[in-house]
Amino acid sequence: MKLFGTMNVNDKGHLEIGKCDTTELAKEFGTPLYVVDEDLVRNTCREFKNNFEIEGIESEVIYASKAFLNLAIAKVICEEGLSLDVVSGGELYTALKANFPASRIYMHGNNKTESELTMAIEEGIGRIVVDNRNELEVIEYLCKSLNKKIDVLLRVNPGIEAHTHEYIQTSKNDSKFGESIFDEDMCRIINRFKNSESVNLKGFHCHIGSQIFEEKSFYSEVSDMIKFLEKIKNECGFCTEELNLGGGFGVYYSEGDKPVNLKSCLKNMISILKEEAQKSGLNIKKVMIEPGRSIIANAGTTLYKVGGTKKTYGGKKYVFIDGGMTDNPRTALYDAKYEALVANKVNVENNEEYTIGGKCCESGDIIIKEIELPRVERGDIIAVLTTGAYNYSMSSNYNRIPKPAVVFVKEGEAKIAVKRETYEDIIRNDILF
Ligand code: LLP
Repeated sequence: MKLFGTMNVNDKGHLEIGKCDTTELAKEFGTPLYVVDEDLVRNTCREFKNNFEIEGIESEVIYASKAFLNLAIAKVICEEGLSLDVVSGGELYTALKANFPASRIYMHGNNKTESELTMAIEEGIGRIVVDNRNELEVIEYLCKSLNKKIDVLLRVNPGIEAHTHEYIQTSKNDSKFGESIFDEDMCRIINRFKNSESVNLKGFHCHIGSQIFEEKSFYSEVSDMIKFLEKIKNECGFCTEELNLGGGFGVYYSEGDKPVNLKSCLKNMISILKEEAQKSGLNIKKVMIEPGRSIIANAGTTLYKVGGTKKTYGGKKYVFIDGGMTDNPRTALYDAKYEALVANKVNVENNEEYTIGGKCCESGDIIIKEIELPRVERGDIIAVLTTGAYNYSMSSNYNRIPKPAVVFVKEGEAKIAVKRETYEDIIRNDILF
């Protein structure tokens, strides 16, 4: 069991985050509740920025907002000087509403709609990451009709099989993302970009997957990309200015997880890049990375209230919480593992094995399959750790359950970042005809 950031156990034996007693947070804001440790987010942003500095080359850390996005986090990310990756009109809209500078926004997606692309072009975002040759046609046509020119990167797929869950591997040869670096038509594709009057191809983007523990996968990514850039320089006469290496740095969720050591991993990526780029005679001007999970995962905790417990005929002991797969679909989707504690009994000995089950009408609605906890009673507060990434952003209203509130905690102060949904919100778009 690992505590993160500002987590602490106070004199009452309660879990504290950002100097706020989590049992008090549960009382004040209700449950389920997403709690974000603002200092931990800021410190992690700084860790990325400080360790991803390359002498003689511009570097940029881009937060992959799909992991967790709302106005408040966009503001924090902006203040910390990171850029932002968006993959939809909704993410772009949120960023712009938070006054995130358009020039620091990158737009991804394998099937951006015309209206999403129009919004991106009109707002003058920093870069569109073009997924494939066919998307270029659409972007060109839109740029022409809007009388604009835009800087782009082309997403390529280096075919690296990083060891992670199959659903979050993104770089295999049959991936739906990007053009393969092995594509025989690569020069023809690049020439199409070079000859375009609407787009300015600055370089390439790649991303090898998510929740990757093996640092050597990132090193192979850098080497393989440099080899690719050298090849297209020699064979297609294209000099790459910018290289975006994506995200994917694995984090600790539960025992056995060996998170990437950011400092050494980033430093090694940089030195491999510098050395190999130099050998290949490449003149790369800017390098980017795009972490999402590693910035926000450990900074998020979900608080639930226990409604009751139950021992089945088969002998399994359940703890029932007032949320579930609606606020955290990751266990059901990826068999994700989490650690949790009873926030009001942190110092009490763990002597029971439980399964933590949600309240949705689905047997798969389990958050943790087996966990040792102290004896749990109705009214206890369960804190599930490392729920900052891809939980709120993948939450749903299954069973018409309103989405929880999000609070940011820091130095004893708790600020609402997203209000709890109400039943009114649930029927907001329904029409009774
Ligand atoms: N850049 C691109 C182009 C991506 O596709 C992703 C994640 C990232 C950056 C950020 O990756 P990260 O640093 O967060 O690993 N829903 C899944 C994760 C899907 C990740 C999709 N792409 C989950 O809950 O584990």
